[in-house]
Amino acid sequence: MVLIVVVLTMSMAVYWLTMHFVRQRALANQIAIGKALYAQHCASCHGVNLEGQPNWQTRNADGKLPAPPHNDSGHTWHHSDEQLFKITKLGVSAIVPDYESDMIGFEGKMSDEEIRTVINFIKSTWSPRYRDYQAERNRFQ
Ligand code: HEC
Repeated sequence: MVLIVVVLTMSMAVYWLTMHFVRQRALANQIAIGKALYAQHCASCHGVNLEGQPNWQTRNADGKLPAPPHNDSGHTWHHSDEQLFKITKLGVSAIVPDYESDMIGFEGKMSDEEIRTVINFIKSTWSPRYRDYQAERNRFQ
């Protein structure tokens, strides 16, 4: 009886550890794919290291704002997942109607899944404090 319990407990532990490892690997793969998508579609404006364009808080001569950073120093983490998805797919004007911006949407250029994957990569670069804030933000969309 005791032996059965021990064997069962051990198999459950092995199963749990294996699943944990598999999930971690899948997550790491997703982040790597998101990183490649970021380099291909976003880095030209938002910076190779997510640092944004120089003087990103000051409007250009044409009255539009430069691309902000996507790391902790920007304000991407102020937005819920749904807003980030909409901005990336449809452009800033999707959440601020009639707003003129160089952030045009990626609809037709990226699939919904690719958009979610690139956003997950961006989120993975934030420090825990900002990730927690944004997770909280998601509860009030
Ligand atoms: C042609 C340049 C350009 C490209 C390419 C670009 N962006 Fe942007 N993005 C901008 C600009 C400029 C803004 C700021 C718009 C504003 O606030 O007026 C912006 C803003 C954003 C915002 C809102 C950030 C905030 O804090 O308000 C998100 C999210 C975003 N971009 C995501 C992306 C993603 C993801 C990609 C790649 C798939 C991407 N952008 C590619 C120029 C670009």
